[in-house]
Amino acid sequence: MGKRISLTQYLIEQQRMHGHIPAQLRLLIEVVARACKRIAISVNKGALGDVLGSAGTENVQGEVQKKLDVICNEVLIEANEWGGHLAAMASEEMDGIYVVPNRFPQGEYLLLFDPLDGSSNIDVNVSIGTIFSVLKKPDDHAGVSEQDFLQPGSKQAAAGYCIYGPQTTLVLTVGDGVAMFTLDREQGSWVLTQDGVTIPEDTKEFAINMSNMRHWAPPVRRYIDECLAGKDGPRGKDFNMRWVASMVADVHRILTRGGIFMYPWDKREPDKPGKLRLMYEANPMSFIVEQAGGAATNGQQRILDIQPSKLHERVSVILGSKNEVERVTAYHREAGGA
Ligand code: AHG
Ligand code: MN
Ligand code: MN
Repeated sequence: MGKRISLTQYLIEQQRMHGHIPAQLRLLIEVVARACKRIAISVNKGALGDVLGSAGTENVQGEVQKKLDVICNEVLIEANEWGGHLAAMASEEMDGIYVVPNRFPQGEYLLLFDPLDGSSNIDVNVSIGTIFSVLKKPDDHAGVSEQDFLQPGSKQAAAGYCIYGPQTTLVLTVGDGVAMFTLDREQGSWVLTQDGVTIPEDTKEFAINMSNMRHWAPPVRRYIDECLAGKDGPRGKDFNMRWVASMVADVHRILTRGGIFMYPWDKREPDKPGKLRLMYEANPMSFIVEQAGGAATNGQQRILDIQPSKLHERVSVILGSKNEVERVTAYHREAGGA
């Protein structure tokens, strides 16, 4: 490996070249990255750090919280509230927004996060992650409210995730491509290990929870049936399947070698647009995937164009290699909705 570039150096050089990472945004990204380092340490300790198992509480979405869901949420709030870069935060694990307390200066940005993605994998020692999204607070009024967060994903100033796996990797976009940083534990620093990440346009690998097959809409069923038919089917090639059940891990694989990820609407709860959350999961991941040359839709439209109507809104997600995402989206269009 040649000269090592740290996260700080990367952010400063990007600002010098393109002017799109003002000081508050840089501080924000560095603080989130530092919080992820702390989370990585807790994740690593596992049973020794008493971080496994249930917290015995439920979040606003009725999901049982794991100890780590709660710990990671606290770590991210504590790390971010005092720096002067934020006006407020919102999290999958909190009912409403968290306004930066009056004793700290108010900043220009809004931070949204899924503090711990892949909760079902914590106790079984499989990769998990933290996902975050950054918006600018509209500057036409004083104070901050939930309404300020309800901006389409195309307005994100930055987005990223950290994956706690065999390696701890931070993946970041500020709207000018995607960069990956690997945590050097001895030095305690994030080192740039890949820049200009690109997702191949075609793939032979899909990720979907097949146990829900009987509940899917016809366009999703059609796409997967055609993949399963392999060489002898209409696609003329064999497909492989992967499902980690941590969106971060599935998306990370897609950024590394291509693929398509789907958590589509299904008829178990027809009024629910999907399982995944628009603001904490779908928007940041869609921003990253598009910045790497991939695509992301809900079957009808680009995810980043969706105008959210509430903080904890859910959405159907189809993302990854461009040509496959376009195919599934076309199947939805041909079916006239669904
Ligand atoms: P979270 O742990 O933040 O609630 O998210 C879990 C999500 C996502 O990471 C993953 O792709 C999906 O739920 C897995 O769902 P199934 O258990 O239904 O496969
Ligand atoms: Mn999640
Ligand atoms: Mn979560």
